Amino acid sequence: MTDTVFSTTLLPAEDACRFDPPTYPCLIVILGASGDLAGRKIIPSLYRLFLLHLLPRDFAVLGCSRTQLDSPLFRSRLQHSIEQAGADMSRWQEFSEKLYYQQLLYEERASFDALADAIARISDTHKTGANCLYYLALPPFLFETVITLLGQAGLAAEPSGAWRRIIVEKPFGSDLQSAMRLDAILSDCFQERQIFRIDHYLAKETVQNILAFRFANAILRPLWSRKYIEYIDICALETLGIEQRAGYYEKAGVLRDMFQNHMLQLLSLVAMEPPAQFQTETVRTRKAAVFKALRPFALENITDHIALGQYTEGAMDGHLVPGYRQEQGVDPQSLTPTFATMKVFVDNRRWQGVPFYLTSGKRMREKETKIIVQFRDVSRSLFKSDKMLCCGPNRLTFSIQPQEKITLSFRAKNPGPVMCFRPIDLEFCYAGDRGEGLEAYEKVLIDCLNGDQMLSLRQDSEELCWAFLTPLIQDCEQCIRTEQILHFYPAGSPGPAEAEKIRMNQ
Ligand code: BG6
Repeated sequence: MTDTVFSTTLLPAEDACRFDPPTYPCLIVILGASGDLAGRKIIPSLYRLFLLHLLPRDFAVLGCSRTQLDSPLFRSRLQHSIEQAGADMSRWQEFSEKLYYQQLLYEERASFDALADAIARISDTHKTGANCLYYLALPPFLFETVITLLGQAGLAAEPSGAWRRIIVEKPFGSDLQSAMRLDAILSDCFQERQIFRIDHYLAKETVQNILAFRFANAILRPLWSRKYIEYIDICALETLGIEQRAGYYEKAGVLRDMFQNHMLQLLSLVAMEPPAQFQTETVRTRKAAVFKALRPFALENITDHIALGQYTEGAMDGHLVPGYRQEQGVDPQSLTPTFATMKVFVDNRRWQGVPFYLTSGKRMREKETKIIVQFRDVSRSLFKSDKMLCCGPNRLTFSIQPQEKITLSFRAKNPGPVMCFRPIDLEFCYAGDRGEGLEAYEKVLIDCLNGDQMLSLRQDSEELCWAFLTPLIQDCEQCIRTEQILHFYPAGSPGPAEAEKIRMNQ
């Protein structure tokens, strides 16, 4: 049993925390507006930003997709889903007057010319100038065609004094080669400063707090290296299965879905060197340096470094849920992994020899995303008896979700006549006091409207992550290899036992 000795609350936001909404007018064009992402995340986030008065005064939203719809029908569909989600509808009418719809045939050049006309018309009506933010909320196989046609229709070029930006969400390619091809197509039409490769994980409040906590507190600085840290554990466990996404997930699997992006991004935040200034390019350069320093996997003894898993039928919250192979749209012989643990090393002076354990899985016993920084123990010569050192050495835990907190565990003397210890936690928790904290997609949108690329991925980082993982993915995907390293685990369990062995193989 651990005592919590200290818990803070946030002070009211100071002036320095005040956020001024973007002043530039803008038209937001959502490509793929009838899809799940637009309905569940993008439009609700825009509406919440509108409620919080965080959108520019002059803005409009143009939704496009293949579906034949008109603007009134588009608005009423969205109203329905936003109402269902329990949002405050008091300003919906005002918001919905800024929503438009235009059918777009993604492979047809003429359709993009019509889009250009619609953009000009709506920009005129809502005085949004020529600023445009394109959001690709599309299945990835359409990215290349749509980006090319946006370019050909003159929609990527920035008219004088105006900006055009594009948001591309993962999956950003499916391996190094396809990511590089996509980058080449993007950079034919857009400049790097116009491109926002987003990872919604980076916009989570607690993930942003990692850099704040590390670099705004001098006491951590001398401790943050191999000298005092024994290992780092990064895990993102989910209780959800693959939902309705078999088509995508069968091809992606957990390595592309979670590791190439979210997991490696978390690793970079924990491992990066302090930037000279907290500025976009300096921070992004420091992150890229971590990816460059990742030790390539030794494929000849890969089972020492990685264990893959796939969930089978099991009980979650007292209900039986199907195994991955029984999910609708999944091949009954599928070898796609839904779980992975890997041991990764960052080969630089700071981290030489310190293992980073990365674990992510679906249909796990509980939902939890956290990073554990495990410190080395004190010298054994100091407290000789094991009884005295009853509890483990210091550990710093960044709980990312569902709880949002930072905990430092340490030892303190147990009151009484005997010199022995008990574990104590020092805890900071955001719970119930997030003020006007933004949800991840809200933060992403605000940053893109402001042209702030701090949380978006630069081309070199994106490609370095693929360069690191592609050989591993290709090796794992050879059928014979997958059979060797894929272990089955029942839904609702902590994952395959083999994952533990990766940790023991120091
Ligand atoms: C997405 C993955 O990027 O992140 C999903 O495609 C995963 O498979 C999701 O469920 C997890 O994000 P969050 O914010 O729900 O933890």
